[in-house]
Amino acid sequence: MRIALINGSPKLNNSNSAFMLKGLETFISTGNDIIHYTINRNPLTEEQYLELCGMDILVIAFPLYIDAIPSHLFRMFVTLEEYMKTERKKDIYVYAIANNGFYEGKQNHIAFEIINNWCLRCGLHFGQGIAQGGGEMIGFMEKVPLGHGPLKNLGNTMKALAANLQARQTEPSALFSPNFPRFAWRFAATHFFWNASAKKNGLNKKVIRKRL
Ligand SMILES: Cc1cc2nc3c(=O)[nH]c(=O)nc-3n(C[C@H](O)[C@H](O)[C@H](O)COP(=O)(O)O)c2cc1C
Repeated sequence: MRIALINGSPKLNNSNSAFMLKGLETFISTGNDIIHYTINRNPLTEEQYLELCGMDILVIAFPLYIDAIPSHLFRMFVTLEEYMKTERKKDIYVYAIANNGFYEGKQNHIAFEIINNWCLRCGLHFGQGIAQGGGEMIGFMEKVPLGHGPLKNLGNTMKALAANLQARQTEPSALFSPNFPRFAWRFAATHFFWNASAKKNGLNKKVIRKRL
């Protein structure tokens, strides 16, 4: 089968979405033709849009932005919709892999509805979405094998997604949190991720807390 892996993160490097796609690829690389797409530097070309219309499966990985999808991904959807309406020759199944900053993966349910509605407009089948909360933790877990420790839910769900995808099956979406206590995640995210990122960008706690 021809499978498109689309990374919908605007990050240029080391996105959590890329990590998730890499994990999925380990389960589906045998016997399938896998083509990677990114939209973080440039929009897709006409040739790439036409190529997507000839896929058996589209996998779209993205970060949750304001309870929805990032705007550059939305723009890609709007353009791809026009191509799908005129150029699609066969049934295409769409699977989504979301991750978000808050602990609860269930926050991605509106984003999946957006993708489901887009599929309906294009005449595509929405197969399933999987969503991981505490997404920024993923970048620190490169050495942890999928399906173990904090990535236990992610690994198990990813495996099930890979099976559904290869059978072109429709299943209910799975939205979950990391296998890590919420309070510990909150502490680590605040001190080692958000504050550290703020410092790197020349901000301090006082500036962040300032009410405008
Ligand atoms: C503009 C913006 C909006 C965001 N909105 C949300 C949100 O509504 N809910 C949430 O849980 N996380 C939100 N996040 C956090 C991202 O979803 C999170 O950092 C994610 O892990 C990034 O994934 P990526 O590395 O694949 O881009 C937002 C981040 C940015 C930059």
